Amino acid sequence: MMPFRLPVRVFMAPGCLSELDGELRRLRAERVLLVTDSGLQATPWPDMVARLARPVLTDASTRPNPRVADIDRLAREARHAGVDVVVGLGGGSVLDAAKAVAMLITNPGSIADYEGKNRFEHAAAPFLAIPTTCGTGSEVTWVSVVSNPATKRKISIKGDGMFAAAAFVDPDLLASLPDGLVASTAMDAVTHAVEAAVGRAANPTSDALAAAALQRLVPALEAMAGGGERDTLRLMEGSTLAGMAFGNADVGAVHCLSEAIGGVLDMPHGLLNAVLLVPVLRYTESEIQEPLAALVSGAGLRDAARLFIDRLDALRRALGLPDVAGLGVDPGLYDDLARLAAENGSNASCRRHMTATDYHALLSDV
Ligand SMILES: [Fe+2]
Repeated sequence: MMPFRLPVRVFMAPGCLSELDGELRRLRAERVLLVTDSGLQATPWPDMVARLARPVLTDASTRPNPRVADIDRLAREARHAGVDVVVGLGGGSVLDAAKAVAMLITNPGSIADYEGKNRFEHAAAPFLAIPTTCGTGSEVTWVSVVSNPATKRKISIKGDGMFAAAAFVDPDLLASLPDGLVASTAMDAVTHAVEAAVGRAANPTSDALAAAALQRLVPALEAMAGGGERDTLRLMEGSTLAGMAFGNADVGAVHCLSEAIGGVLDMPHGLLNAVLLVPVLRYTESEIQEPLAALVSGAGLRDAARLFIDRLDALRRALGLPDVAGLGVDPGLYDDLARLAAENGSNASCRRHMTATDYHALLSDV
C-alpha cells in the first residue's frame, strides 16, 4: 500500500509566480536551467521567469509528448553548464520534460533506463514547476511521462525524489492560453479526478481532493462552453487538486488507452482523454457506479452516476471536442493499441479488470 504523499510547497493564488524569487533563494540556486516551449514565447511569462531566475541555460524546444532523446540531450547540456536547479514553465509536456531532466542531471545514462518506480540512485536536482495549462497536475505528482520513439511507447518514470520542490499555480498564466487548449487540458484534469476516485487505489484523501477538483472544473467548463467568461482560478485550482488526487491514487483505463494512442500517433494527451473519458466510463459503468456516485455527490453536483456521465458527454460536445471516430485512428492499429493499453502500468488500478480485448472493443464499438 502506498502512503499519501505531497512533499511539494504549493503556492496557489493569482500572482503567486512572484514567490519564485524567494523559493530560488531558499534553494540557494546559482545556475538555473529554464525549460519552456516555443508557444509561450509570445507571452510575458518566459521573460518574467527569466528576470527572477536568471537562467544560465534556457531551452524552449520542448515538443508535445517529449522524447527520450530530447531529455537525454538537455540533461547532458545541463550537466555541462553546471545547472543546480531546474525551472519548468509550461504545460504537461514541459513540466514532465523538466522533471525528467532534473533527475537525469544527477544520474547516469538515458531517461529510458529509469522506467518504473524509484529506479534511480541519486537525489534529483531541485525542480520548480510553473504550469501554464489547467490539466497536467505534473506540478504535484512524482511522475514524468516520456515518449520513446524507438518502441513507440510512452514510459513513466516515477520516484519519491521527483516531486517538485515548489509549484506556482497562478491562474494569471492561463490568460493567454487559447480556448481549445483550456478545454482539452481541463478535460484531462476532469479525467484525473474521475479516474482517481473510481480506481482501486482510491483513498479518503484522494477522494476528497478529487471531489474538490470536480466541484471547480465541471461548472467552470460548462460556463465556458456556454459562452461565459473562463474562470481561470477555478480551472487552475481544479487541475492541481486533481493532480494531487491521481498522484496518490493513480489513473485508469482512459489514460492506459490515451497513452497507447499518444505514443503511437503522437496526438495530444488532453484531447485523447477528453474523447475517451465517457466511452470508458460507460464501458465500466457497472463496476464504477458506486464510487462515481460518491464522487459526484461529494462534489455537490447532484447527479446520479449515469446522469453525470451524460453530462460529461454533453460537455465534450459543447466544447467542440470530437468523439472517438472523430480522432480518425486507423482500425488497422486497434490490435496494437489495445495490447499497449493493457500493458500500461496503470491498468492494474482499474476497478474493472481490463484486457486487450476490452480495449479493442472500446475502440471499435463507439
Ligand atoms: Fe492525464
